Amino acid sequence: MIQRYDAYREEDMEVWQILFDRQHKNLQGKASQTYLDCLDQLEAVLHGDAIPRFTDLDQVLKKATHWSIEVVPGLIPVAEFFELLSRRKFCSSTWLRSKAQLDYLEEPDMFHDIFGHVPLLIYDRYADFMQEVGRLGYACRNQPELLDAMERVYWYSIEFGLVVAENGHKIYGAGTLSSFGETNAIFEPGTDIRRFDLDEIMSMSFTKSELQSKYYVIESLDELFESLEKIEFKLLAS
Ligand SMILES: [Fe+2]
Repeated sequence: MIQRYDAYREEDMEVWQILFDRQHKNLQGKASQTYLDCLDQLEAVLHGDAIPRFTDLDQVLKKATHWSIEVVPGLIPVAEFFELLSRRKFCSSTWLRSKAQLDYLEEPDMFHDIFGHVPLLIYDRYADFMQEVGRLGYACRNQPELLDAMERVYWYSIEFGLVVAENGHKIYGAGTLSSFGETNAIFEPGTDIRRFDLDEIMSMSFTKSELQSKYYVIESLDELFESLEKIEFKLLAS
């Protein structure tokens, strides 16, 4: 599949611009500085003026960390998803939510996939972590319990992870980075924020509800990469 750029309508362009500009502003001081720096570095190919062209993003990604975008129609089986990650291919859909549904999504759209996930893929340690999660996840494809455990690692880090910062914590998970409401909700008093603990995470089921009920915070993005050895050890010991 390829991105059919000519098929985007005026409303799509307008929705992209609203989402990008609103969330870019909202994330200042709330997102991990590494994410914001990566987003800045991608400015020529990822900005609010127009829907990004995947061919342009691919060029920059390939040069930076050898990743590329794999166009998918929507959610795909998790083993297939992990297999693509293990080959440094990140799945993205090409459709965009409507203007009437700016803040409600049943499935990830292009704004989530691209704005949320792509920037950190040019940061080499994160890019390596993502590939390794794919490799380990795919290796578990015939063991449902272990596959679940790897999905949870992905969920509580890549989708909804937080990282320690000077004054509290910042967001690096794509699910939150691409959600205006969740970005703000995380900083409300009473949010359940826990230390990144693999034993707990790998056995903690999750719900795809509008807001998560708990979040896990790591010391630094490098801690993610360092956790891989422990993840592999736990999988082998199971
Ligand atoms: Fe995602």
